[in-house]
Amino acid sequence: MDDLTPPPRGHLVTVVGVGADGSLQPAAERLLREADVVLGGRRHLALVAPVPGQERRPWPSPLAPSLPALLDELRGRQLVALASGDPMVSGIGTTLVRALGAEAVRVLPSISSVALARARMRWSAEESVVVTLVGRHEARVLREVAPGRRILVLTSGSPTATFVGRLLTETGHPDAVITVLGNLGSDAESRSVKTAREWAQTPASDVPALHVLAIEVPADAAGWRSSWVAGLPDEAFENDGQLTKRDLRASALARLSPAPGQHLWDVGAGAGSVGIEWMRSHSTCRTTAVEADPVRAARVARNATRLGVPDLRVVEGPAPDALAGLEPPHAIFIGGGATRPGVLDACLAALRPGGRLVVHGVTLETESLLADAYRTHGGELTRLAVETTHPVGRFTGWTPLRTVTQWSLRL
Ligand SMILES: C[S@@+](CC[C@H](N)C(=O)[O-])C[C@H]1O[C@@H](n2cnc3c(N)ncnc32)[C@H](O)[C@@H]1O
Repeated sequence: MDDLTPPPRGHLVTVVGVGADGSLQPAAERLLREADVVLGGRRHLALVAPVPGQERRPWPSPLAPSLPALLDELRGRQLVALASGDPMVSGIGTTLVRALGAEAVRVLPSISSVALARARMRWSAEESVVVTLVGRHEARVLREVAPGRRILVLTSGSPTATFVGRLLTETGHPDAVITVLGNLGSDAESRSVKTAREWAQTPASDVPALHVLAIEVPADAAGWRSSWVAGLPDEAFENDGQLTKRDLRASALARLSPAPGQHLWDVGAGAGSVGIEWMRSHSTCRTTAVEADPVRAARVARNATRLGVPDLRVVEGPAPDALAGLEPPHAIFIGGGATRPGVLDACLAALRPGGRLVVHGVTLETESLLADAYRTHGGELTRLAVETTHPVGRFTGWTPLRTVTQWSLRL
């Protein structure tokens, strides 16, 4: 429902976007005057003039779990919730829709900080990307870094500029230019431009709490980390040799076929490379990496953070037991441990229609297991023999990697 007639009592929350200077759309002003209860963060409630007889309620904390009880208590009263800018840009609108359903929420946006930042930078929407770090790990920004890229970052407060400056410096982009756009749209608006290296040294107290980062990565930045196509060089991953090598990884990911929003189980994750590349393929892809060895499990998490996918979930423990209770996957990669009793069966049982399974094996035992699985379930059985060049004295010769047997199945 998008018309502006007052909503039927008790059925709707109207979320109204407020500018940093307290400005509102004219339609929102009327709704705000007529509301019985105005909900919002303390900063937002302080921005709008009081209305006699109207109740003002700061959001409870933590918000999401308290919402149903709060709205039950307020049932039957006209509710307006305040948000900054566009409530659907990393804002309360999204939380309310998730908690109450789309039908129960009406949204009246104001100009978002992203639109203001683009206007100040003269960056078009088509040529820039937006990343939100609100309530999220700063390393997420690293997935977006590519030569010449323009990245707008919604932040979680003052320390973000320093953290992001440090991350970019550590990952080979000290000369990336970061503009901190503070308090956009208010009288206190500010702008400060420094390189990533300089921001890394800047104390958080010098950065306004409310800011957007505008990052410009140099066009000549060294770029291997910035490809989203599977098959990063092996050196991209800290590893102890238990790593699915580049060409084999690319082949596995081609068959795992990541799609936006989908979830991978990376079973026997080793260095985590397959699960990491799955997540890098799209910002909404998710991975649960299962790894029995605690040293390797910690390494998977480090690799994930360094390569811009810090939300990769690591489950430490042996499959199949460690698979119990995990969120169902869209695809499964078994890079190690396929012969362990129950692993292949548990993975096959977890696949849903459209699901994909890829198993790699280098031993005769795994190969015979995969040949049996192929006879029983079909799919594709492939042998991958990769050779790379190495010095032989003054000359160059081929060195074979272990031949891998790959079984893949799509339901
Ligand atoms: C929870 S998000 C809300 C975004 C909001 N819905 C919008 O449309 O701008 C909060 C983040 O937005 C950014 N932000 C919101 N208002 C801002 C302003 N006036 N100036 C600079 N950044 C702002 C900051 O990065 C802040 O940490």
